[in-house]
Amino acid sequence: MNMLPFTRPTLDEEELEAVSEVLKSGWITSGPRVIELEKELASYVGGGVDVRLFNSATAALEAILIARDIGPGDEVIVPAMSFVATANVVVRTGATPVFVDVELESRNITAQAISEAITPRTRAVMPVHFAGAPVDMDPIHALAAEHDLLVFEDAAQAIGTRYKGRQIGSSGNPVAFSFHPNKNMTTIEGGAVASDDSELIKRLESIRFHGISRDESGEMGVEAWGGKMNLPDVNATIGLAQLRKLDGFNARRRKLAEHYFKRMPSHPALVLPADAPGHSWHMFCVCLDFHSLGMSREDVLDTFKAREIMLGMHYPAIHLFSLYRRLGYGPGSFPVAEQIGEQTFTLPLFPAMTIADVDRVAYVFQRLLA
Ligand SMILES: Cc1ncc(COP(=O)(O)O)c(C=O)c1O
Repeated sequence: MNMLPFTRPTLDEEELEAVSEVLKSGWITSGPRVIELEKELASYVGGGVDVRLFNSATAALEAILIARDIGPGDEVIVPAMSFVATANVVVRTGATPVFVDVELESRNITAQAISEAITPRTRAVMPVHFAGAPVDMDPIHALAAEHDLLVFEDAAQAIGTRYKGRQIGSSGNPVAFSFHPNKNMTTIEGGAVASDDSELIKRLESIRFHGISRDESGEMGVEAWGGKMNLPDVNATIGLAQLRKLDGFNARRRKLAEHYFKRMPSHPALVLPADAPGHSWHMFCVCLDFHSLGMSREDVLDTFKAREIMLGMHYPAIHLFSLYRRLGYGPGSFPVAEQIGEQTFTLPLFPAMTIADVDRVAYVFQRLLA
């Protein structure tokens, strides 16, 4: 039996040939392929947005915060359950992340939770579409309008996710995607921002490349700080091939997720993820109360490893890392995020998996919970 990882990118001859072509072309860093992928992504996302590529979603999120002048004295509301980058980018600007708890099944934040965390210093809120599950954005936009807050979406895990039938990213407010290898499409490392604000797009272009801007005559100017966050053409050309296959990948992910729902046992110690229309099934994460079964986390992982199945762990609650405990958070601050942090397991889910692979994973859960 082959070891079944929790994720694996799907790359084939098309990507290999595309990379080879770029390498032979003599132009390997940011150039025509980046521009092409930006156009293709903008048209995929829809809603008349523009897209700018970055070398990671972390860089993309940092650039959004800098472009919107978020800094010392400002608070940005973020979920306590996400990858740590969601909060780290806020810290990087000198602003303070303010955590809120999430819902257990969707792992997403709600307008209600956000409203309880708003203070006179709140400048922005950054919902995360966890594992590709769409956050209920309409009440969040309404709340943000009421309190004059900016909304930035961390859609690192949500390329291809739809909310009320529309692609995440098409709403106009700045949205960041990741193309890291475990995401639904990859550029190896890479990220993007979608926004309908042409001024913001101009600032992002300059922030991602040394603060450089050019006037109509092509003269170079530097008016504000910029870093080095551009994506090379070698990566962008992989993204072009991947984007053409994205809807197929996501349809396959949905099929596999639906099969998990059919095969996973129903048991009080097991919490399955919430399904939602438009979910892109980046991950299938469950909570398992292994203590109630007389087991440790290691026991569970070993049980699966013995059957050549690797499970993932997404994620430890952010507020419990020592960096964030220094802001005054600790155990008990966000009970749901902490429960997820303790009990979460990510089941294998990637397009090249078979239905039999899903059966194999579900069978181990059936045995564990019998
Ligand atoms: C929710 C979330 N935000 C941000 C990031 C950072 O993405 P990147 O690795 O492209 O910087 C990730 C990556 O896993 C993520 O899951």
